[in-house]
Amino acid sequence: MIEFRNVTKLYGQSAPALENVNLKIESGEFVFIIGESGAGKTTLTKLLLREEKTSSGDIYVDGKRLRRLNFFTLPYYRRKIGFVFQDFRLFEKMTVYENVAFAMRAVGQSRRAIAKKVPLILRVVELEDKRDRFPSALSGGEQQRVALARALANNPKYIIADEPTGNIDPQRSLEIMEMLLKIREMNKTVIVVTHEKALVERFGQRVITISKGHVVSDTGKSS
Ligand SMILES: Nc1ncnc2c1ncn2[C@@H]1O[C@H](COP(=O)(O)OP(=O)(O)O)[C@@H](O)[C@H]1O
Ligand SMILES: [Mg+2]
Repeated sequence: MIEFRNVTKLYGQSAPALENVNLKIESGEFVFIIGESGAGKTTLTKLLLREEKTSSGDIYVDGKRLRRLNFFTLPYYRRKIGFVFQDFRLFEKMTVYENVAFAMRAVGQSRRAIAKKVPLILRVVELEDKRDRFPSALSGGEQQRVALARALANNPKYIIADEPTGNIDPQRSLEIMEMLLKIREMNKTVIVVTHEKALVERFGQRVITISKGHVVSDTGKSS
């Protein structure tokens, strides 16, 4: 479970990026976080990854207080999270297969495990037939699916995506959202951040709206 307790985040002297945010996201939930540009959405994801620390208040993930994580415990905490960026961030000189395998090698998974798991993950994102392509030979939607596969590589409990459809045309955006919903069925908690209100409304999932650093609405838990 993720819990924000009175979280405020300030950058320097400007208005708070987030102010007194209280939130609970249960394990296994699917949540959209929406809000206009500058609302504080990316700040919220950075706090969750512990790339940034709260200025006041606390965030707990599975009972652990993120403020307390240190040089030794932070890498293990981060392995709980598969992160997806708007701009994909794939390795351009590696094939689809290698992009996913690399993430597994980086945390010391065995060659056998990697050889077994990469094809399974590529099947989830429906890219088995493109495993030997380089990112430059893929569409934006396909590149984002590789990024999704890479986020899944080490079987994280949480998938967090920050504007995953920001660089993708509308038709493909729907596919990416549907894939994220499918990933939730793999017993994961999925948090999708976007400014595309119209896109999320059709899915009937929980939607948390932030505006100017405040949670202004929360539809609550969906099925
Ligand atoms: N590293 C930073 N330094 C100073 N201000 C920042 C920084 N990151 C974000 N901000 C400010 O915090 C506010 C929220 O930004 P952000 O979380 O990126 O919003 P969103 O992702 O919803 O567009 C904005 O006013 C932004 O300018
Ligand atoms: Mg942002």
